[in-house]
Amino acid sequence: MRGSAPRNRSSETPTFWRTGRCYRAPLLVQQFPSEVPFGFHGRLLPTHETIELTVEAHRIPPANALELLQGARAVAEAELASGGNGGHTAELEVERSSASDLGIAIARRTQELWRVGLRFVVLAPNRPHVEAKRARLVDRLSGIGFRPLIPRYEVRETLVPPGLSGTEPRPSGYWHTLPTDGLAALFPFGDETVMEPKGTLLGLALSDASPVFFDRWSHASYSWGLFGTTGSGKSFAAALLLLRTRWLRPETSIAILDPLGEYSAWVESLGGSVIRVADGVGGRLNPLDPITTGGDRREKAARVGTMLRALFPSLRDEEAAELDAAVTQLYERGPEVPTLKDLRDRVAERGGPLSRLTTLLEVFRSGSLQQLDGPTTARPGETVVSVDFRGVPDDHLPFHLTYVLDWAYGRMADRTGPKLLLVDEAHLLARHSATEEFLDRVVRHVRHFDAGLMVLTQSPDDFLVRPAGRSLLRNLYATAFLRLPQVSAEAREFFGLTPAESEWLPKARLPRETGYTESLWRVGELHLPLAIVASTPEFEFLEATLGHSRSFGEPPASAPKGGL
Ligand SMILES: Nc1ncnc2c1ncn2[C@@H]1O[C@H](COP(=O)(O)OP(=O)(O)OP(=O)(O)O)[C@@H](O)[C@H]1O
Ligand SMILES: [Mg+2]
Repeated sequence: MRGSAPRNRSSETPTFWRTGRCYRAPLLVQQFPSEVPFGFHGRLLPTHETIELTVEAHRIPPANALELLQGARAVAEAELASGGNGGHTAELEVERSSASDLGIAIARRTQELWRVGLRFVVLAPNRPHVEAKRARLVDRLSGIGFRPLIPRYEVRETLVPPGLSGTEPRPSGYWHTLPTDGLAALFPFGDETVMEPKGTLLGLALSDASPVFFDRWSHASYSWGLFGTTGSGKSFAAALLLLRTRWLRPETSIAILDPLGEYSAWVESLGGSVIRVADGVGGRLNPLDPITTGGDRREKAARVGTMLRALFPSLRDEEAAELDAAVTQLYERGPEVPTLKDLRDRVAERGGPLSRLTTLLEVFRSGSLQQLDGPTTARPGETVVSVDFRGVPDDHLPFHLTYVLDWAYGRMADRTGPKLLLVDEAHLLARHSATEEFLDRVVRHVRHFDAGLMVLTQSPDDFLVRPAGRSLLRNLYATAFLRLPQVSAEAREFFGLTPAESEWLPKARLPRETGYTESLWRVGELHLPLAIVASTPEFEFLEATLGHSRSFGEPPASAPKGGL
């Protein structure tokens, strides 16, 4: 039926259907991409265009599913064996191994197979519009790896409504066989929301503002990482999450390694105490005090070696060996609680007062680190404590961070109840392999005493260079990416980010633009695009107390709108 159909009569053309002024143009999918980017429906089906998506799913009984998979595997194997596969060996191998993986998942009942009918229908009031819209949908689908198919002379069969049994005739490209995960990815209201009981609010899903609650304490590692460019909101997000953790579990102990002194006022407002390294306010932490290793002097000697390497990165091999020997001797024979002067004296005794090592260690006796020489006097009993490194010269920061990390680790091992340690500007510890290894060990071990780390730094690449850094990243259960200027190929591969995610992260909006932070969270296997939003009281409290190091340099970022 063509030509001038009377109004409201239906007519079929080779590629669309018309009822009066309603044109319906169907589109099928010939082939799926191997993975779909997060939020792909949002990109395929923009809210300003009317497009129907119909998904019907019929479960394939497990016995038949296994038979199907065995068939698929046998075909792939036969083609591989015959060798005449036209250069598709890699594809066939993937097919063979995914058929066998899926077979195992089906036998274990973690996946099922589904016969899935899928069709898009574009709606418009006239032919040019309907065709232009369908062409755009074809482009969007192709852009994310789908192979779309316009049914020709099969419009009626495509458009019949789905029956309960799925037996009505359909054109090719309508039916697909998908595992449960594949089917789940097709749900347009895909809700990847996490709602863990007893969890704290992480943020609101960027797709539909549904809240995501996550219980740090119910997972294999309690440690998280937050990565984002300067001003992306890492420190704010970390403080916000710590506040919410304490509301749910007020007994949570918090320690903060705060190189820029951003958290001091916040910690004091929570009734906590601050140790200021540069001027000694709050007391001294003796870097050599073996209390941090519970009295284990060999372990302590090793950690002292690490901190000294961070302070003197230019040591020659023989000097490093001599220093190690002096440190070992100090813990074997020295006073119960050695001080830095004892170390300097031991080195002078072994190598002479004029040796280069002795001269280097003079910094502890008469130089800029002399305030550290002496017994520990800081013994904060509060549940919230921060160590503020503001005013410390940049090249001393890794050293200070290392012995304070050692102290914080000892403190966590010593206390009962849940504990969190926030390490801001953690890249300072990735400058040297020894300190990076130490941080990695801390992350791996703290779980044993109910503790987790929050590791904050600007780029995940800081930790992707060496094996210890990679091990550290692997042991973070949740990783949040805030705006990143770029996503390196290494980071993409390491974190399994899709191309769409990597393209989005440099565009994630900054809190100073929006009043909240756009972020992508990797939580276990999930990838969740979230807005980190503070309520008005949270925002006001954090805004009033956080980031006072800015009086040191730049003015505060233009006031964000903030709050709900
Ligand atoms: N979720 C948020 N809601 C409202 N304002 C925010 C939010 N996150 C951050 N801000 C504001 O944005 C500014 C920058 O945030 P923040 O200092 O946390 O960034 P950062 O990533 O830690 O930067 P740097 O790497 O320089 O330390 C702050 O002034 C803060 O008040
Ligand atoms: Mg910060």
